[in-house]
Amino acid sequence: MTHTEVPGTTGGRIAPLTGWRGDHDYFRFAELDRLDADAVLDVLLGRRLGVVFRGVIDAAASAELVRRFWDSPVRKRRGGEVCESLGYYVGAYHYHKPTDRYLDESAEVAPHLDDLLDVPDEPTRWFRAELDARLRRDGARLRPAEQGGRPACPVLVRHWNAQGAFALQPHEDSSQLGWPEQAGFEIQRTTERVVAAVNMCLENGEGGRLVVWNVVPDLASRTRLGLELSGSPYPVESTAGHDSLWLEVRPGDIYVFNGGHVHGVEASAPGAKRTTMAWNMGFCDDRNVVTWT
Ligand SMILES: [Fe+2]
Repeated sequence: MTHTEVPGTTGGRIAPLTGWRGDHDYFRFAELDRLDADAVLDVLLGRRLGVVFRGVIDAAASAELVRRFWDSPVRKRRGGEVCESLGYYVGAYHYHKPTDRYLDESAEVAPHLDDLLDVPDEPTRWFRAELDARLRRDGARLRPAEQGGRPACPVLVRHWNAQGAFALQPHEDSSQLGWPEQAGFEIQRTTERVVAAVNMCLENGEGGRLVVWNVVPDLASRTRLGLELSGSPYPVESTAGHDSLWLEVRPGDIYVFNGGHVHGVEASAPGAKRTTMAWNMGFCDDRNVVTWT
């Protein structure tokens, strides 16, 4: 054999993923020109892959948020983990941290985030208010995840420098929730239903499409690839045979989708900037949709 065996491969070739796939009605993005909380609920309940609300963010609000992001004294640099290339962010990541540390970092950055987001027509504010109002009609609510009365960071503002084929490698958002140092944190219970991803595009150049494959990898596939606690990165070869959907993302768009599917972000054209606001959310029980970053 000329190939070196690596986990999850057969004879040097990477076997295709196995797992759950949606039918034709499910595997698509609904496309709307104004926020509709029912369409978000369809994603949270697993009735549809995703929804994109086109051009719903006020352009002046986007420009001001981007300006404040670059000026922020707590903007940090990030590499490795789920990013192949370096990027910048304001906020806190729960990824592979003890719950307490994540909540400490969330508390530290909170006043800075409040300042950054204090902009007229700021989109995370009205998005959350509308979704929360919709959930309350069914006796549920939307809130940041918490532990011991301490809330998770509500949103990440982030920017990527694109390099290679993907600005963000194929991954899914569920596996990282199994991190043992977060045992008992309520976000872990969201994996029993849909782990949704919310993204708000403040600026984007050519390219930078979201790609989603029609597969939610099963534990056998994740373990075979050694990704059961990270969900990243999935070798592109492992997606062979699965349908994919490429969503063009433009400034002002908000999109919400089932982050349990393998997904990635295409590299942007050279010099293009991609700045988004994002969080994850899901039902942790019948009455609570919790959010985290
Ligand atoms: Fe993701």
